Amino acid sequence: AGHRGDIGYGKIILLGEHSVVYGRHAIAAPIPLNIRAEVKPQREHIDLMIPRWGVEMRLSEPERCISSLHASITLIAERLGVAERGMRVDVVPHIPRANGLGASAALAVAVIRAMARCFEVEISEREISNLAFDCEKIAHGTPSGIDNTLATFGRPILFRKENAGARPEIRDLATPDPIPVIIGLSGVATLTMQTVGNVRTAWQKNPERYEAIFSQIDQLALAGVEALRKGDIAELGELMNIDHGLLNALQVSSWEIEELVEIARRNGALGAKLTGGGGGGAMIAVCEPERTQSIASAMRAASYNTFITEIR
Ligand code: PMV
Repeated sequence: AGHRGDIGYGKIILLGEHSVVYGRHAIAAPIPLNIRAEVKPQREHIDLMIPRWGVEMRLSEPERCISSLHASITLIAERLGVAERGMRVDVVPHIPRANGLGASAALAVAVIRAMARCFEVEISEREISNLAFDCEKIAHGTPSGIDNTLATFGRPILFRKENAGARPEIRDLATPDPIPVIIGLSGVATLTMQTVGNVRTAWQKNPERYEAIFSQIDQLALAGVEALRKGDIAELGELMNIDHGLLNALQVSSWEIEELVEIARRNGALGAKLTGGGGGGAMIAVCEPERTQSIASAMRAASYNTFITEIR
């Protein structure tokens, strides 16, 4: 009683988006923004309410077009063995949607936890992450698994996706002092499915050229582990700047993201790059603690929304 719902964590990718889809390493960290869900039994029907996103649907009734949200919640109920039960699912998202901050995975994790709690279904953390991964497949096609992993575990990790049936590689990361991060929102919905698809098309045409880029990004992610361990913000920043250059080589940035990166660097950021799928969405910048406010203010002065957070 008194709990404010179950949580799925939002995330930022510090190094390695896109190449992580091709089996390379990536570093991701949770952000204080999350999604909460609560499930209460009712006589019949499964109702889903997300007032902040204008969502109000009865899942047991056929829809004209089955949304990925509809399909995900139905899959969760089936897999927990409670699809025949009546329930009301209330979701309160504190993560902006479609910004590459992992809102869809966080939503799945929050709903899985809440539904399992409501019907007293036992489920391990790994099973929660796996089920959220299956939900992500509905929304994204070929996800690497990094979003559901972060949404479940909520700690900084080095991640490498499952390969030929082997489990994903997940290594906990730590940093001696919190590293300040500014998140800038482009205001344009991220097109993760599209950018992932574009990269795939380019890779299919010229696998060697793109494998070389992915391997360079892999080296940056691995070097990032050391930078975090030492709390070396300047080194982490340099790795992020180079990674952003390689993400530009993959053509997944956007006009707004480039402007935000430029503003961050001009105002003292030690590193700035897009985060997540790109094509819009969000970017991140790291800096010395005393620079955070001025970088965020400069982004806001150019009409972008920002969040200040830290890696810890
Ligand atoms: O879902 P997003 O926009 O946070 O992007 C996830 C990162 C990608 O590497 C682009 C895709 C993936 O599945 O890893």
